[in-house]
Amino acid sequence: MSALIGKHILLGITGGIATYKTAFLIRLFIKAGAQVKCIMTPEAEEFVTPLTLSTLSKNPVVSSFTDTEKNWNNHVKLAEWADFMLIAPATANTLSKMIIGKSDNLLMTTYLSANCPVYIAPAMDLEMYQHDTTKTNLSQLTNSGHIIIEPESGELASGLEGKVRMAEPENIVEFISQHLLKQMPLFNKKVLITAGPTYEPIDPVRFIGNHSSGKMGYEMAKTALNLGAKVILISGPTHLTLTHPNLELIKISTAQEMFDNAMTFYDNVDIAIASAAVSDYKPKTFHNQKVKTTEDTFRIDLVKNPDILKTFGQQKKHQFLVGFALETNDEVENAKQKLEKKNLDFIVLNSLQDKGAGFKNDTNKISIITKDDIKRFDVKPKSEVAKDIFNEILNTRFNNKADA
Ligand code: C5P
Repeated sequence: MSALIGKHILLGITGGIATYKTAFLIRLFIKAGAQVKCIMTPEAEEFVTPLTLSTLSKNPVVSSFTDTEKNWNNHVKLAEWADFMLIAPATANTLSKMIIGKSDNLLMTTYLSANCPVYIAPAMDLEMYQHDTTKTNLSQLTNSGHIIIEPESGELASGLEGKVRMAEPENIVEFISQHLLKQMPLFNKKVLITAGPTYEPIDPVRFIGNHSSGKMGYEMAKTALNLGAKVILISGPTHLTLTHPNLELIKISTAQEMFDNAMTFYDNVDIAIASAAVSDYKPKTFHNQKVKTTEDTFRIDLVKNPDILKTFGQQKKHQFLVGFALETNDEVENAKQKLEKKNLDFIVLNSLQDKGAGFKNDTNKISIITKDDIKRFDVKPKSEVAKDIFNEILNTRFNNKADA
């Protein structure tokens, strides 16, 4: 159902016995995280009340060109609002109006104003569905890009039996979810992201850490999920959280734990992005008891942590690999060296010298550096920066011009 999260669904409801099922349909859409606005034909109101549907959809239900105060129900605005339209149930009458563009009610005028995808779930009696006219209409609507959700078998209100009952609400929701998912640019792709700081323990209460908030990594995870990917987010300690059916969030503390987890997934991912601020060193010795502060000086010997990104680069096969660099001097030169040394497809440079860039901000200012190109971006919210990064990945690896 993840493809429906945040989607604006314009539900066109026509008049037939299956109209009562739209109450269940709306509940399922809302449960899946979508927003629903309903337009009913005047005949549909004979079968189910607008009050029921407005209560369930949490939005006013409209059916005529003006409301009770004679304000215009703006069909163009409704059409613009929609990510997609679903006409369910779609009667033979409405199917035929869609063919000829007969806009004699608010649903039809909105339909004609809509540029979004249109799903149609027909429902009618057996003879009507089998009539040549209906068959021709449905195939013409398919040819013009509409998506038909096939009716299902069962007993009909007329007493007849046939494969003309409106598809069950859960099947409609599943059909649309799958259809939307398959069109997403990162459908069937796996993305591994490391995020946040690591904490390297000195004793049970102290650690070596850094200021990373993890915001950039979490925003990239959100963007990848919105593009249809399955995401594995391996996060150091942050106050952030994220839930999504396609997300596996693994919270770790040390660089070694981040490395161990990352390596179990790496072989099977399509894209790996290392945005974590991994501690390069850890204390050589962990003190089991809290270190006493009796001495004036205290020495900690440090040993190197595994370099996760470098190991990704060494073991790279099909993966698209992105690293981050935070530099204070000779930024581009240092970033280019890292790009080469760690065998990356590109590196995202954020400089501490830039206002609005860096660790704790909600904004960032990046440059994307490849072997022979550098693209500089303005200061933007990290959510927008995440989109820029994925647009670059889509354009270079997947040759896809879809916007993140
Ligand atoms: O060499 P440097 O640490 O500056 O490289 C930064 C990049 O390498 C970042 O993408 C960071 O996530 C990654 N890195 C890593 N493991 C380390 C150190 C850095 O994955 N131990």
